Amino acid sequence: MSIIKVENLKKEYKIIEKQNGLFGYFKNLIKPQYREITAVNNINFEIKKGELVGYIGENGAGKSTTIKMLTGLLTPTSGKIIVDGIVPNEKRIQNNRNIGAVFGQKTQLWWDLPVIESFRLIKKMFRIPENEYRKNLKNFTDILNLEELLEKQVKNLSLGQKMRCEIAATFLHNPKIVYLDEPTIGLDVFVKENIRKFIKEINKEKETTVILTTHDLKDIEDVCDRIILLDRGQIIYDGSKQSFKDAYGKYTLAELIVSSKPVNCKEFVHSDSFEIIEETENKIKIKFKHLETTIVNIMNEISKYCIIDDIHMKEAELEEILKEIYKGAYKK
Ligand SMILES: Nc1ncnc2c1ncn2[C@@H]1O[C@H](COP(=O)(O)OP(=O)(O)O)[C@@H](O)[C@H]1O
Ligand SMILES: [Mg+2]
Repeated sequence: MSIIKVENLKKEYKIIEKQNGLFGYFKNLIKPQYREITAVNNINFEIKKGELVGYIGENGAGKSTTIKMLTGLLTPTSGKIIVDGIVPNEKRIQNNRNIGAVFGQKTQLWWDLPVIESFRLIKKMFRIPENEYRKNLKNFTDILNLEELLEKQVKNLSLGQKMRCEIAATFLHNPKIVYLDEPTIGLDVFVKENIRKFIKEINKEKETTVILTTHDLKDIEDVCDRIILLDRGQIIYDGSKQSFKDAYGKYTLAELIVSSKPVNCKEFVHSDSFEIIEETENKIKIKFKHLETTIVNIMNEISKYCIIDDIHMKEAELEEILKEIYKGAYKK
C-alpha cells in the first residue's frame, strides 16, 4: 500500500508578462498580459511507507512546486494527490499532523525564543504525549548534538546549528512523512553528515517516509534508495538508485594528458564506441561504454594523432551521470 499517491498532477502558474518602458509600465497596471508556466506537467508516482526518496532535477524543474502541493500549501491545477488517505490541500490541518516539512532556510522556530521553548510549543500544538516528547528530545539531542543549543535563542544560532534544531523540530511529533526541500543548502560538510545520519536513523527506527530534494548529490548517495528525476516538470526517471546507476552509469570517463595534439582532435577521431566530450591543448576527456570497448583500444586510436603522457579513469558518479543527462547526452 502506498502512503503517497500522485496522479496526473499538474501545476500552472500565471505570471504577468512584463512590458518595457513607461508606456509598458502603465499598460501592465491597466491591462496586464498574462502568461502561463507549467511548473509540474502531468506527473505520476506512488511512494510506500518507509521509503527514502530523492526528488532531484535542475533548478526550476518543479521540485519545490511538487513538495508544496504534497504538503497542501499549493492547490494543483489538475490531477490528484492522496497522502495517507487525505487530499492535502482540502484537509490541511489533518494533513499537517501527519507530516513534517523543511523548506530551505525558512524557519519554523520562534526567532526570539530559546530553542527548547519552540520545542515545547510544538509539543503543545501537536499534543505530543509527555513520555514520547521526552524520548524524542533525548534521542534527537544525542544524534544532532543539540545539548548546548537548547537554551540559546534561535536568532543567535549559526546556520548549521539552526538547521539541526529545525530538523529536530520537524520530527518531534513523529510525523509519518517528512518533506525536506534543500535542507542542506549552505551547510558545512560535518553538519550535512550529521543530518544525513539523523534521517537514516529515524527512518530505520520509525519507518518515517522521507522525500528529499537537494543540490548535494552526496545527500542522495548517502540517504536515498530511490530516485525520482524531474526534468522541466516531467518525470524522466523513477526507480532504485542502483538501477539508475546501472542504466545510465555504464559510461566510464577517462582523462588523457597528451602532447603534440592537433587543435581539434575530435574532427579526426571517428568511433562508435567512445566519444570525446571535452578537449583542451593538453587534455582529452573521453566517455566510453566499458562493455563495448577497452581503454587500450581507445589509446590505440588516440595515439595516432598525439602522444599520450598520462591517463586517469573514473567510474561515473551520480553527479556526473546527472550532468550528462542535463546536457542532453541521453535524450532520444
Ligand atoms: N510562485 C510562482 N509564480 C510563478 N512561477 C513560479 C512560482 N514558483 C515557481 N515558479 C516557476 O515554476 C518553475 C518550477 O519552479 P520550482 O518548483 O521552484 O523548481 P525547483 O524547486 O525544481 O527549482 C520555474 O520555472 C519557476 O520559475
Ligand atoms: Mg526548489
